[in-house]
Amino acid sequence: MLINGPRGTVDILPEESRIWRFVETVFAEACDAFGYGELRLPIFEHSELYLRGVGETTDIVQKEMYTFADRGQRSITLRPEGTAGVVRSFLEHKMQNQPLPIKLYYNGPMFRYERPEAGRFRQFSQIGFEALGSHDASMDAEIIGLTMEFYRRLGIPQAELLINSVGCPVCRPIHKKALLDYLTPQKHELCEDCQNRLEKNPLRVFDCKNPHCQVILKEAPRISGYLCEECQTHFDQLKGYLQGYDLQYKIDHNLVRGLDYYTRTVFEVYYPDRSVLPSAIGAGGRYNGLVEELGGQDLPGVGVAMGVDRAVMVLKATQSKAILAPRMKLFVAAMGTQAHLLATEILATLRKEGIYCDQDYMGRSLKSQMKAADKFGARFTAIIGDQEIAKGLFLVRDMDGKEQWELSKEDLLTLIRTAPDA
Ligand code: HAM
Repeated sequence: MLINGPRGTVDILPEESRIWRFVETVFAEACDAFGYGELRLPIFEHSELYLRGVGETTDIVQKEMYTFADRGQRSITLRPEGTAGVVRSFLEHKMQNQPLPIKLYYNGPMFRYERPEAGRFRQFSQIGFEALGSHDASMDAEIIGLTMEFYRRLGIPQAELLINSVGCPVCRPIHKKALLDYLTPQKHELCEDCQNRLEKNPLRVFDCKNPHCQVILKEAPRISGYLCEECQTHFDQLKGYLQGYDLQYKIDHNLVRGLDYYTRTVFEVYYPDRSVLPSAIGAGGRYNGLVEELGGQDLPGVGVAMGVDRAVMVLKATQSKAILAPRMKLFVAAMGTQAHLLATEILATLRKEGIYCDQDYMGRSLKSQMKAADKFGARFTAIIGDQEIAKGLFLVRDMDGKEQWELSKEDLLTLIRTAPDA
């Protein structure tokens, strides 16, 4: 019996890994330009970090975490997201004592026990960045600016930005009361999920996709109507700064996000054609209470995480041609032990110089080796048999022009080094 990979996991095969590497390189370069340093964190943490950090009422903590007792009977969780771990590391390394803000980025696998569907996996990868220490709306704008710059560099300039403010501990309770006053009389008409949300975290009802709930929610009070003066000013300033980044955005009053730590700014990014991907390609926001919640001082933070799997899906659907594998420059078709030795020497020389070349390892006939070279899409093929060794000249074929020449080893190397790839 064959053993398949667990549900919700994917194997990224070489052709697709190339697109992943492109995404990760573009991401790291964009982060460099904005002054973010890379943080590499463990994939598992104490479960307590997420209970306190992500929030006990969230879907993530309630039903999606991979939690287990290790052999020392500690409760361990495979990280479901990156922000809590970044804040844990920030505090553990006393980064608050360095000049603020501290700007960090990360890249790696996350784990959530969700129902797999298009673009939703149980092991997925996020790239993300966080800025800790600044309350200023210009910091939120930088996070959003870098997010959109990343998508622009990736070749997805049409990515759609939705923003909202979810207020703060001053204005949120007032809105919560208004929302409960509005919804409680109609509670029995809401779906079961929303009835639960009403008890635990009423703001999250705006996430509901149930059509009947949506009708009820149409007239429900939005947090935007209840923002305190400071939150309103912060949101207005953010909009001003976004213009500085020359960014288009839509304000979405229903945008509330699924993690408990958000205050003020929240945002999500979508690929406009929802048939390619219905869910967000990236999302983030401000979390002014998280550092304190995790045992630090009262220090604010703002950040974002973007799904690498989802970015790759969009690239594959739209423009994967730009990220094709490099073309093999030379295939050496060798017959006989001495010829293989020569081929090995030639390959070793060229590979040291970073030139992509290969030979046959399967003992194929010359004819099959030529077929293989063609299949690999080799730019040139060199044939080495007894005759060629005796003459000290190799038969070299231009696989595009179909011309061929007899060349010495040195001339062959010069040709391969200098000929253009195409
Ligand atoms: P999130 O919205 O849970 O936020 O995830 C951010 C992004 O990760 C999503 O927009 C999506 O692209 C990707 N993602 C999430 N779940 C899955 C999944 N099951 N399969 C594939 N991709 C997925 C956070 O995680 C926050 N930590 C973001 C943040 C950083 N907020 C502030 N700083």
